Amino acid sequence: MILVNYKNYQETWGDKAVEIAKICEKVAKETKVPIYPVVSALDGHRIMKETGIKTILQAVGERWEGASSGQVSALAAEKIGISGSLLNHSEMKMKPGTIKKLLAVWPGNFWSIVCIHSIGQAEGWAKNIRPSYVAYEPTYLIGNKDKSVASEKAQDIKKIVEHYQKQKVPVLVGAGIHQGEDVKMSLRMGAKGILVASDIIKAANPEKELHELAQAFNV
Ligand code: G3P
Repeated sequence: MILVNYKNYQETWGDKAVEIAKICEKVAKETKVPIYPVVSALDGHRIMKETGIKTILQAVGERWEGASSGQVSALAAEKIGISGSLLNHSEMKMKPGTIKKLLAVWPGNFWSIVCIHSIGQAEGWAKNIRPSYVAYEPTYLIGNKDKSVASEKAQDIKKIVEHYQKQKVPVLVGAGIHQGEDVKMSLRMGAKGILVASDIIKAANPEKELHELAQAFNV
């Protein structure tokens, strides 16, 4: 599985949000690798309506019903057909207590993808969590064009995968992924998929780049 995180890159604003989602859909069909956009609450509903593909939010807020101006509601998102959300991305961190509290009341059909940033977190506060997915993203490698979680932290991926195997939580990895070799190494270490942002969103040809990463799942 590939999650393409739009972040707030201007290449994803407005109509471009849908165009990139269509690229995800096209490459997924061609390669048979599930590929889903990870988008802001501004774009989620439109992408979902216009493409019909699984759409994931980058974050939800802490309060989901009633008087909570400005918060993104996981309950409302699930109700309109959004498929899930990241939690605790490096660029939108949450307190461990808050994450656990939200997971305890998480809507049943809504994926929870909890980001952790180090092996220390997997062995610390995140030890016993059971989200739909854990996403391992070492903060310092995010946006890196030469090094990635796969090239620098392969052994940590393996340890984190082994740790979460016990509670049957699949692990995704991200940060600096930019070539097929990163994908292959991540899968070899036991990851079930990747998260990628700048390599696709900033590419001269996002479709070609996404194709290259997706092909690496199939060799
Ligand atoms: O959520 C994925 C993201 O943080 C990775 O960013 O630019 O290193 O692919 P990037």
